[in-house]
Amino acid sequence: MFLSFEGIDGSGKSTQARLLADSLRAEGRDVVLTREPGGSPGAEEIRRLLVEGAGERWSPETEILLFTAARRDHLERVIRPALAAGRTVITDRFADSTRVYQGAARGELRAMVDRLHDLSIAVEPDLTLVIDIDPATALSRGRARGGNEDRFESLGLGFQQKLALGFRALANEYPDRVRLIDGSGAPETVAARVSAALPA
Ligand code: TYD
Repeated sequence: MFLSFEGIDGSGKSTQARLLADSLRAEGRDVVLTREPGGSPGAEEIRRLLVEGAGERWSPETEILLFTAARRDHLERVIRPALAAGRTVITDRFADSTRVYQGAARGELRAMVDRLHDLSIAVEPDLTLVIDIDPATALSRGRARGGNEDRFESLGLGFQQKLALGFRALANEYPDRVRLIDGSGAPETVAARVSAALPA
């Protein structure tokens, strides 16, 4: 099974990905927990190009190419071999992040994202869990932890609000694959909602 977690910065998706990996492993499942951008040595190198340096280092189009190149390497080197070996793959972000983040920056870029995805990725997770949270709540969590504030400040609350709407729209666009999970409350409470959304 191939699962992805998605959500805005500070949504708690990385914690949920880890909790789910832990609970499936406790049941005896062989789980690969991975992330994007990155997840394979080559893709982690591309990640550095994306997350370091000035915000305007790359044009939005070049950024889409880099995210997609990183995903292709991650898919070839990590995801496909693991699935072929019968392992469960849980990834913290996948193609929906590109659809939402790069599509939210400039609406017309969604077409480029989709065409590149069809050409070079062409797979979707079996199930995508979107940790749905109010951006203001995510921001205050980040402040409490001293963690996510940087990204929030660089992207802005308004942009995070746009992203949250984008993830909700994906749940309508792909109703069979994408589930919205209420991200409010304690991590264990959210984890119980995640478990309830998994196929029996
Ligand atoms: P992530 O590693 O989830 O963030 P963090 O460092 O807080 O754990 O992702 C890094 C950033 O990249 C995040 O703001 C989301 C963004 N991103 C995109 O814009 N497009 C993509 O395709 C992906 C995978 C991530």
